[in-house]
Amino acid sequence: MRGGGDLQPLLEAIARVISVSLGFGTVVINLHRPAWDDFEVAIVHGSDEGRRVLLGTARSWESWQALLDPRFERGGAYLIPEGEFEWDTEGTVSYVPPAAGRLVPAEDHAGEDWHPEDALLVPMRAATGRLLGVVSVDDPIGGHRPSDAQLEVLSAVCDHAALAVEHAQATAEADRHRTAVQHLLRVSARLTGRRSVEDMLLAVCGGIRDALGFRRVIVSLTDGPDHRLTIRSSIGWSRDEIAALPDVPLSSISRLLRPEHQREGCVLLAREEAELLTPPELHGLHRGERNGRGPLAWRNHWLLVPLHDRDGAFTGMVWVDEPEDRLLPTTEGLQALRAFANQAIGVVESTRELEHLRHLAENGTVTGPRNQGDLEPPIQAPGLLDTLHEGSAANGEQLAAAMLLAETLDRRDPGTVRHSLTVGRLAEQTGRHLGWSAERVERVRAAGVLHDIGKLGIPDAILLKPDALDRDEWQEIRRHPEIGARILEHANLADIARWVRAHHEHLDGGGYPAGLAGAAIPAEARVLAVADAYEAMTADRPYRASIGPDAAEAELRRAAGTQFDPEIVHALIAALAEGDDGLPSPV
Ligand SMILES: [Fe+2]
Repeated sequence: MRGGGDLQPLLEAIARVISVSLGFGTVVINLHRPAWDDFEVAIVHGSDEGRRVLLGTARSWESWQALLDPRFERGGAYLIPEGEFEWDTEGTVSYVPPAAGRLVPAEDHAGEDWHPEDALLVPMRAATGRLLGVVSVDDPIGGHRPSDAQLEVLSAVCDHAALAVEHAQATAEADRHRTAVQHLLRVSARLTGRRSVEDMLLAVCGGIRDALGFRRVIVSLTDGPDHRLTIRSSIGWSRDEIAALPDVPLSSISRLLRPEHQREGCVLLAREEAELLTPPELHGLHRGERNGRGPLAWRNHWLLVPLHDRDGAFTGMVWVDEPEDRLLPTTEGLQALRAFANQAIGVVESTRELEHLRHLAENGTVTGPRNQGDLEPPIQAPGLLDTLHEGSAANGEQLAAAMLLAETLDRRDPGTVRHSLTVGRLAEQTGRHLGWSAERVERVRAAGVLHDIGKLGIPDAILLKPDALDRDEWQEIRRHPEIGARILEHANLADIARWVRAHHEHLDGGGYPAGLAGAAIPAEARVLAVADAYEAMTADRPYRASIGPDAAEAELRRAAGTQFDPEIVHALIAALAEGDDGLPSPV
């Protein structure tokens, strides 16, 4: 549950501080639960009886709104004197501490004695104003209603508490994201192309369940002339449940897949909306249990990720349901789901490729040991991966996994087949020519392979679009350095992350995302930029043939000093001229 368990010690400390330093016998902290849009009593400090009665009870958003009324506000706190609020209409549990210790009212506070039915509340708000929780205090040690000055101190303390709670929640969210990326990398590492498609799709389903917390996951692929969606892998569904699901022709879900229903490459719709867009036989196939209440909650939503092949044709989908936390996914959650779905595409694509090659081999179209070698899936680059493993033991494994992920991307986008490996090789040659140490050269080569890894977060509809991109779509594509850097940071590859983030910066400051100029762009990133451009100009793409090495070199020279670092342009051209064959250096 978001904002749950990990916060407990922090909240206990906050309650203790308020109690001891400000002199309240009872301190209760109510925390907002996004999945239910209510406030649950998370901490009761000071009274065993209060703890027994209140802990775990919840009060609706509306009822707190009624209490946090401006007429009760004093110095940022809300003091609700006895008799001024109809508590009985609430129908929720309330607890009135016994009036111990207040039998003798202090004379100088006549009329200001604390009444057992008084209530004193302080909202905890995030920087955005969002209500994170409500602190409710009772049983003041001196037996008096607090003065304005005391209320101001109390509300200042609660402001600090709110900051701490917000920070802890953001940290927990970042941790979840990091865990998801690590799962993604781990799953990638298992997609070696040597296992069956079923095994690999199951690994993807398992990754989605474990990393993103969806209890039910299905991968369907299209089959036959009417592109019927057939379930190829699932997790969280029993055999009988799967058998009861119909094979669905593509036409019956095509309205769901329109761009206007997509966010981060995923289709997320409320059930009512989804049912308007689909034929009745698809309604009520499954009624989930992990539902919540309120605007942030999951309520039988439909969440699909369409899969497309290299030509942009629809080839299947991932369907997830039953979120553990009962919440709608965040933007990061949808991006991660998209990235997992892309792995499923990678699996299917590479398998089809492999089957095609096997078919050719079996039919004698290609023969000989060299061609046999081509049957190996392209992700085998043992020399490179082994070096990195040994060279930097601490993050070698994660780096290797990230490299596999980059290869998944190459297989997904026909425009960039082998692009990553080639950029890595060119970066290596350039680094070597610049006289960099072997270690630094190896690192920049890895960065070359990884430089476009952020494209994993870009929806197929944009990445694979055959037509010209519009402004919004370009905007989307231009997020890839940042997305890539974040993936790599989560994989503890901070140096490579920094270079990848800057690989589209221009020497004169005209690049993106930050508009860095000159020496503010790391040298490695300047190398990546030149290697990337050279590869793009000299590789044959489906939509554009190579312009040839001479023209590409002329183009690099022309843009040296504005887009590119002249010294690095010179180094790359010189390295190529020296006849560096570009083969990976012997391990
Ligand atoms: Fe790029």
